[in-house]
Amino acid sequence: MISVALTKGRLEKSSTAMLEKAGYGVEKLKDKGRALVFPDTVKDVRYFLVKANDCITYVEHGVADIGIVGKDTILEGGNDYYEMLDLKIGECRFICASLPDHNPLTMSGHIRIGTKYPEVTRRYFRQLGRDVEIIKIDGSVELSPILGLVDGIVDIMETGTTLRENGLVVYDTVCRISARAIVNRAAYRLKHEEVMTFLNDLKKQVKE
Ligand code: PRP
Repeated sequence: MISVALTKGRLEKSSTAMLEKAGYGVEKLKDKGRALVFPDTVKDVRYFLVKANDCITYVEHGVADIGIVGKDTILEGGNDYYEMLDLKIGECRFICASLPDHNPLTMSGHIRIGTKYPEVTRRYFRQLGRDVEIIKIDGSVELSPILGLVDGIVDIMETGTTLRENGLVVYDTVCRISARAIVNRAAYRLKHEEVMTFLNDLKKQVKE
């Protein structure tokens, strides 16, 4: 039996669909109610549905052998696991955005950036040789430049709708992101065959 931690929300539908195409029995995940643990109806696998950061925590501690989680969370958090496969689902990018005619990248002096991802933001501005003040925002980051709290944001853009509807423009792409399969280090050795079978089944479904 292997345990797989799936990320709730944005990646939930696409990862469930990918598992189904790969021949896994995900009926219980599709009709989930308030449950949090779901046995596969075909294979010897059980799934947990958790928040992105928790997906990494469960894999690092070996409660889950495998996790499916966004590269955004991987870039921001720890790395005590193996990142094995780019699933090419949940594709989006980190962008730097702000109000029109308010490009934080060309401003001089003290600038403030709002984000849910302080590590990614720090690395990005360090690469640009800029020292910025980072203000951690937990949600609706787009509001922070509109209200004048910050000069710009670093956030995820998928369709671009949230930025557009709030009158913000993109000034730069920080990097592209997508969902990854990560594996607990001990499970990689001790459950090698089961883990690799699972990953190879998914790999066959990854688009070219
Ligand atoms: C993300 C991100 C943007 C939005 C972008 O938030 O922070 O707000 O999605 O998507 P779009 O380009 O398709 O409009 P998310 O939905 O993950 O919610 P959160 O703000 O609660 O983290």
